[in-house]
Amino acid sequence: MTPFSNLKLEIEKLEEYDNHHKVVLLNNPETGLKGFIAIHRKNKDIPSFGATRLLHYRDSLDGLRDALRLSRLMSYKSALSGLPCGGAKGVILAPKRLTSENRKRLLLSYAEEVNALNGDFITGTDVGVLQDDLKLMKSVSPFFVGFNGNSTECTALGIYFGMETCCSFLDDGDNLAGKTFAIQGLGKVGAALLALVYPKAGKVYAADIDKSVAEKIKKKFPKVVIVAPSEIHKQKVDIFAPCALSGALNSKTIAELKCRIIAGGANNQLEDDTIGDLLFKLGILYAPDYVVNAGGLIAVFDEYEHKKNNDERIYDKVFAIKERLHDILEKSKKENHAPNYIANEMAEKMFNNF
Ligand code: NAI
Repeated sequence: MTPFSNLKLEIEKLEEYDNHHKVVLLNNPETGLKGFIAIHRKNKDIPSFGATRLLHYRDSLDGLRDALRLSRLMSYKSALSGLPCGGAKGVILAPKRLTSENRKRLLLSYAEEVNALNGDFITGTDVGVLQDDLKLMKSVSPFFVGFNGNSTECTALGIYFGMETCCSFLDDGDNLAGKTFAIQGLGKVGAALLALVYPKAGKVYAADIDKSVAEKIKKKFPKVVIVAPSEIHKQKVDIFAPCALSGALNSKTIAELKCRIIAGGANNQLEDDTIGDLLFKLGILYAPDYVVNAGGLIAVFDEYEHKKNNDERIYDKVFAIKERLHDILEKSKKENHAPNYIANEMAEKMFNNF
């Protein structure tokens, strides 16, 4: 275990550091708040965007690494979505058990820290943060977004469009009717995605490490087949959708995959980029995570830009994910190079022009 106070010395030595614009260590002994705000890139006076995660990590260093990896990914997501903002991420280190009183205290304390950045960082919900939490934090800080409509539903819609694009790319029609799915993680994104695919799906397998979450889903969507979390990626389906935490696609799990397509909401699905190569060689079509899960970011940036909600405008911007993904997949085929590298190259080209 790395003592929290030592982390400051570690940051720049970490391979995930990638010359971050700013990394703030949050440590408030009065409220018990510990965590990080990582700002990967900052484009002039435009705030950097990235949601906030509330999660228990075995070691604070794991939390720091996660924050750095996620904020970097947000820069790529933003650039490929045609947005001018750099990427960022907030991570609140949650204790193993969190009472509602303690939760409230941590969230309010975190919102004060976001305020202290004077608008350089704009944030919303990620893993472990609920819409009510967001409302609470917004009561002390104006720098929280995700109130115009539901940004998670936009995330799910983008993934849905990405799935359609993958199917049409494999000459399987631009339609998900009758397709089979395996959804890993049934939180905000997984549940919203399930609601979209369920009406037309052939068969849907789903899993969540929280049994009560899986039970609730089964009640609401009775045709879903709930499987053990260790089995979800092994299902023989058309599309596997990782919608839980990072690293779902790693050297162990990819040997067990039986899907044709991977398109899901989780950030940093690949343990590292070489896993993308292996998927490519296996003939499994991988839709780069930050390309298809950008709907939420697109929606919250629109909220920041326009204040007034316009569903049609947001829908059109999320729909554009289809074309973006199609271009990446075409280029990947033409150059015989895995799509994650193609997406990275395209994003880097864009943000280096900032
Ligand atoms: P959430 O906290 O609402 O849900 C995550 C769910 O995954 C929880 O129910 C948890 O019990 C489950 N889970 C964790 N580990 C698991 C495992 N190994 N197997 C099965 N289930 C597991 O989080 P949310 O917001 O749904 O985010 C999910 C993923 O999507 C994260 O990687 C997040 O960064 C990403 N994402 C979320 C966006 C959003 O709009 N909320 C936007 C873009 C990406």
